Amino acid sequence: MRAQNFYNKRKNGTQTSAFGTPGRINHDSSKFYNSKLYEGLNNGKDVEYVENQIDPKNINKVFCKSSEAMSELPDNSVHLMVTSPPYNVGKEYDENLSLKEYRELLKRVFKETYRVLVPGGRACINVANLGRKPYIPLHSYIIEDMQSIGFLMRGEILWDKGSSASPSTAWGTYLKANNPVLRDIHEYILVFCKDTFTRLNPQKRKSTISKEEFLEFTKSVWKFAAERASKVGHPAPFPVELPYRLIQLYTFEDEIVLDPFVGSGTTCIAALKTKRKYVAYDIDKKYCDLAEKRIKEFLQEQTTLFSEKNLPPSEAQPRNPAGRD
Ligand SMILES: C[S@@+](CC[C@H](N)C(=O)[O-])C[C@H]1O[C@@H](n2cnc3c(N)ncnc32)[C@H](O)[C@@H]1O
Repeated sequence: MRAQNFYNKRKNGTQTSAFGTPGRINHDSSKFYNSKLYEGLNNGKDVEYVENQIDPKNINKVFCKSSEAMSELPDNSVHLMVTSPPYNVGKEYDENLSLKEYRELLKRVFKETYRVLVPGGRACINVANLGRKPYIPLHSYIIEDMQSIGFLMRGEILWDKGSSASPSTAWGTYLKANNPVLRDIHEYILVFCKDTFTRLNPQKRKSTISKEEFLEFTKSVWKFAAERASKVGHPAPFPVELPYRLIQLYTFEDEIVLDPFVGSGTTCIAALKTKRKYVAYDIDKKYCDLAEKRIKEFLQEQTTLFSEKNLPPSEAQPRNPAGRD
């Protein structure tokens, strides 16, 4: 099956005007995409949809090794990557790499991700920027590097962590214009896809997102609380809500979700909650063990719930389907 990225002219639809258009139903955007602004940009390829099977013994597994080589996964076998890379800021799992070395490490992992994603498969990267003097815009370096690998960018989500962000009180100069300092209460989730914008679904698997979720999750600003490191036992976990939203939006039921920097296993839990499968990597044995422990606890909780309700597992709902712990 072939996926196309051509910007077709739609019959009787709205057109891009100098001032935009009020409605965008059946919108003809060919004028905009054929403008000089888009000249020379990678706008995808006309590709065949290929999906190779992962050996069943490697599915729902956390591999305790570097994700720079994911030899357990064939080309075109994963539907979505969700991850939060190591920040290289001296957390206990971080190596002390230069910015160049750090970008090279992420690039090796994301090149492997590109190889294993199916055509149209999505890659979502949660990242925060660093420092103040100067501010290091990691998100912009990652965008540059993902595009150089060949990924197409789909957008960026600003995750507003609200009061859970506990912004630093290092104001610079308090109430004075000499050197006031911005205190980030947000992180980014950068969204990319491989080769083509539309994910084909020849197996006719089910979408599981509700109307309310779709309307909320397609907005570019998300607001929910951060996860407490002390509660999880990992220095930088994201909340289940983050991978939950991306999985619901970007995959069909039963598909494969990859996290190449899985830490405490949050992405695996979100995958199980949504009836997807996971493959995950972490280089640190104690986090692999922690991920396995959290996954086991989650599965035990499900089993208890099923037996409490006296329902066969296939008919019972997860206790916390939206992942709001
Ligand atoms: C920011 S944490 C991920 C946290 C995770 N999202 C969670 O909810 O717990 C990044 C993880 O990447 C792991 N890591 C660092 N380098 C790695 C590599 N080359 N391959 C695989 N994992 C690596 C670290 O051990 C760390 O647990």
